[in-house]
Amino acid sequence: MDPISRFSAACRRQPVDRPPVWIMRQAGRYMASYRALRGRASFLDICKQPALSCEATMMAVDQLGVDAAILFSDILVPLEAMGLTVEFPEGGPEIGPAVRTADHVERLRVAGAADALGYVYDAVALIRKTLDERAGADGPLPLLGFAGAPWTLATYAIEGGTNKGGGKNKHALRRLIYDAPDVLHALLEKLTVVVADYLVRQVEAGAHAVQVFDTWAGLLAPDEWRALSLPYTTRVLEAVCARTGVPTIHYALESAHLLDAFRALPCDVLSVDHRESLSSVRARTGGRFALQGNVEPGVMTASLPAIERAVAACLADYGDAPGHIMNLGHGITPDASVDAARHFVVTAQRLGAERRR
Ligand code: CP3
Repeated sequence: MDPISRFSAACRRQPVDRPPVWIMRQAGRYMASYRALRGRASFLDICKQPALSCEATMMAVDQLGVDAAILFSDILVPLEAMGLTVEFPEGGPEIGPAVRTADHVERLRVAGAADALGYVYDAVALIRKTLDERAGADGPLPLLGFAGAPWTLATYAIEGGTNKGGGKNKHALRRLIYDAPDVLHALLEKLTVVVADYLVRQVEAGAHAVQVFDTWAGLLAPDEWRALSLPYTTRVLEAVCARTGVPTIHYALESAHLLDAFRALPCDVLSVDHRESLSSVRARTGGRFALQGNVEPGVMTASLPAIERAVAACLADYGDAPGHIMNLGHGITPDASVDAARHFVVTAQRLGAERRR
């Protein structure tokens, strides 16, 4: 099967020769080649220069042998296009000024924001061209675009971004939920318009599928998530579907308590972390979605036999039904080894094919 058909078929729960495999954050600091690239350029420079973004994307493709490429960028770059400053110091991203009042929201730019992200669409087009040029005998790899969900981008904008998505307690965010929900909704509204446009433009530039990262969905109780995230993510997913028709993947971390609520999401694939088994996720979501994941990322620091056991267990847990995309439950971490990542990929490919025989 050619890699683009394999990936799209898996997203649509159609039969495949084996589940495709890729790794969230597959290009990153765990790779010596990425650290060398970072020696020459800042993280934002890599995001903003299509040739460097393409170089980073291709590192993972070349070194790991994955079945899908992902645009090298970050979910936070649209916040910059909306008028905030976004920086990536050692301790995690910082966004300023923190958005906490109606006035702050008012000042955020919507018109023209997606246009200001032209460097992303240029990177997508360049990566597509490079993937086509370097296609193997089976054909080129699919390219995934991505964006943050409005809710997750709002958490960064409101908290100012320190400590992975805000101060530990997220009290600035909580204050808005309790005391100024209209301000929060106005912010979510603006983010939704920009993110929808941004993803459609990535597809128009060449992305074969898109992933929406709602990393911080898990902060919310189900009814809160239905009010603050679902309506906005739904509009983003529906815009992508109506204007492009490519498959959509929804990712959330630590969100087992939201699985019943997730049934309402109009996406093709749910990407889930390791805290709930795939068979249980499938049962709880009524079998409506393809599933992506969900090997625990720390296994990438363990021995090769341990990785093999984790991959085998994940494949067995999903079973032989169509609609599985093998991945980790969250991004690969800087202390992982490239050998481990490569072993994860080849093992998933080998065992995945054996199960189909
Ligand atoms: O998957 C890929 O290979 C594509 C690239 C990608 C990055 N970030 C590169 C990156 C993707 C898909 C993301 C998504 C992202 N960014 C998310 C959602 C997924 C998740 O992890 O939950 C979030 C929450 C962010 C925000 C972000 N960006 C954080 C919290 C950090 C700091 C923590 C860290 O891992 O460094 C970043 C920086 C970042 N994004 C780096 C990379 C390679 C490291 C930057 C560096 O080189 O110093």
